[in-house]
Amino acid sequence: MIAPNSLEQLLHVAVIEDVVGDYVSLKKAGSRYKGLCPFHDEKTPSFVVTPALGIYKCFGCQKGGNSLNFLMEMENLTYVEAARTLAKRYGIELIETGQADSEEYRNSQKLRENIQIVLDFAQHFFAENLTETEEGRTIGLEYYRERGFTAETMNKWGLGFSPSGWEVLTQKAKEAGYSMENMELAGLVRKKENGEYFDLFRNRVIFPIHSVSGKTIAFAGRKMSSAENSPKYVNSPETELYKKSDVLYGIFQAKNAIKQHNKVFLTEGYTDVITLSQYGIENVVASSGTALTPGQIKLVRRFTPNVTVVYDGDKAGIKASLRGINLLLAEDLNVRVVPLPEGEDPDSYCKMLGSEAFAKYLEENEENFIFFKARLLLEGVKHDPIRKTEAVRDILDSLAEIRDPLKRNALNHELARICEMDESLLATELSKLVRNKWSDTGREIIEELRQITESAGVDMPRESFSDISQERALLKLLLLHGDKAFNDETTVYGFVMNELQGDEIIEFHDSLCSQIIEAFKNHESGEFPGQQYFIQHTDSDIANWAAGILSEGHELSPAYLENYIYIIHENDNFKQELVSIFVHLRRKKLDNMLRQAIEKLKEDAENTDETMLLIEYLNTVKMRIAQEVGGAVFHFGTNNGSA
Ligand code: UTP
Ligand code: MN
Repeated sequence: MIAPNSLEQLLHVAVIEDVVGDYVSLKKAGSRYKGLCPFHDEKTPSFVVTPALGIYKCFGCQKGGNSLNFLMEMENLTYVEAARTLAKRYGIELIETGQADSEEYRNSQKLRENIQIVLDFAQHFFAENLTETEEGRTIGLEYYRERGFTAETMNKWGLGFSPSGWEVLTQKAKEAGYSMENMELAGLVRKKENGEYFDLFRNRVIFPIHSVSGKTIAFAGRKMSSAENSPKYVNSPETELYKKSDVLYGIFQAKNAIKQHNKVFLTEGYTDVITLSQYGIENVVASSGTALTPGQIKLVRRFTPNVTVVYDGDKAGIKASLRGINLLLAEDLNVRVVPLPEGEDPDSYCKMLGSEAFAKYLEENEENFIFFKARLLLEGVKHDPIRKTEAVRDILDSLAEIRDPLKRNALNHELARICEMDESLLATELSKLVRNKWSDTGREIIEELRQITESAGVDMPRESFSDISQERALLKLLLLHGDKAFNDETTVYGFVMNELQGDEIIEFHDSLCSQIIEAFKNHESGEFPGQQYFIQHTDSDIANWAAGILSEGHELSPAYLENYIYIIHENDNFKQELVSIFVHLRRKKLDNMLRQAIEKLKEDAENTDETMLLIEYLNTVKMRIAQEVGGAVFHFGTNNGSA
């Protein structure tokens, strides 16, 4: 246990905005700060820090607490570990009393601590070897010097050298009393068949890899001679402390600069990061040669939405990296690209130009990713209609990832010019792709809202159709298209039933409509009952309804023409209409909640902050729903309501 007054002192010094600020880019909002919650994926800030109370609270995922709770959650630490970490970080002496907690908890804490201890030991060993041994100086140091790294740079990045022997680190660790099991769990040594251990890193320059909070969690060792017949890099395996897909090289050193510039340069290699930072471009990280992972993107998002990719200037490499970039777009990041001349990488080109000219080059050659991709893919295919179509489709596919319809349309306009194609044709294709990607009706967002409303004391109103024509339009679509595919996973029938169910059952007002929907639900097959089922239904009202809709196809009425088009061309319009019906319902629900929240604000002076936040959140949610369906809203009561 931590002595109470010691804890109080700690929390007094480790103020919440500082502790959180190390991980989240916070913007001041009155007497508080706001930012994107690091604990769940979100695009609009619902994470609030209140310095006066020393607390944080996310109105999205409901996580909240003081500095210690934050660190526990963030770094996956126990209470005592978090207290010790903060105490160390802020130079406070912690007074601990009595016995710690449960066995299991102590064990996992111990394991992580033990791994950290040997990693720190190894870090020290590699760094010392670089400058304090003959081999280190003549081979390792010489290698770094040749690459132009200054002493300051080597220090900043903790660069080191692993000796050429097979068990130098192993021996040193034994002498110092470290257990080989821990060394192995830390990924520093391997076990031979005879039970002996040997070093993983041998005769290599060593790049330590740091966590967001600056702990050494892994190493990469580069060979120094291209003649040597072994992989260029040897990397630490994944361990209890190192989850490769959640780490970006350089994020600890770069995070303040990223926040400051509100932008990050994304490169591929360790050396790119180190050189650029030595040349004064400090907001730079590396994906370490692999495709970006969702975990890495989430990490970037915490600090900035603006990502500029600076990849090596070889065609094959660039084309291979295009795919990963769609992920960035889908996460609502603004992605730009700086192409480098063939054969150059950020490291080599920065050294060649010098810091000023290189910074200028970045600025002048930065290009929106969509245009970059368009130029790249269209190169040499302009006169080959088939290959050109393929390229355009690929580009539109990226464009469709962008959620903001305004942004998307502006880019499409420019794209039409670049491809020399008709803008409206591209727009039509694009809207199809968008619809398939974002056929989200807001259902999940509403689920998310449920929790937030509770803390603000606002009810979730039930959803209900605003008029009978909506109910009828839905049932008509269901009867006509129920057995068709809605997407790869479900039929139209499956989609509608899923939307209608849940504990927030959508109410039908019209009694005939309620009967019909019950008939849909109660069919014993559990699937779409088929049109015949309704035509032959024993309830003559239902049979009449079905016959009326299905016979529309046999007379030459405007409704006929409409249905004719649906059926013959297998047009996707009915999907959009379905989506719109549910979007409309959810928007209405949000409006009701907003009205309630505003009423509450007038009546109730307490909880004002929370209600204000809720109102703000509801408004952003409304925008999100609008954006995700591209603003495509279906109008009722025109010629679709005829039942
Ligand atoms: P590069 O080959 O571009 O390496 O691979 P580099 O770090 O820029 O090194 P220099 O400048 O050529 O000396 C880019 C990244 O891919 C990963 C590393 O993270 C590297 O930084 N990689 C590459 C490996 O993990 N293993 C390898 O064998 C090669
Ligand atoms: Mn490189």
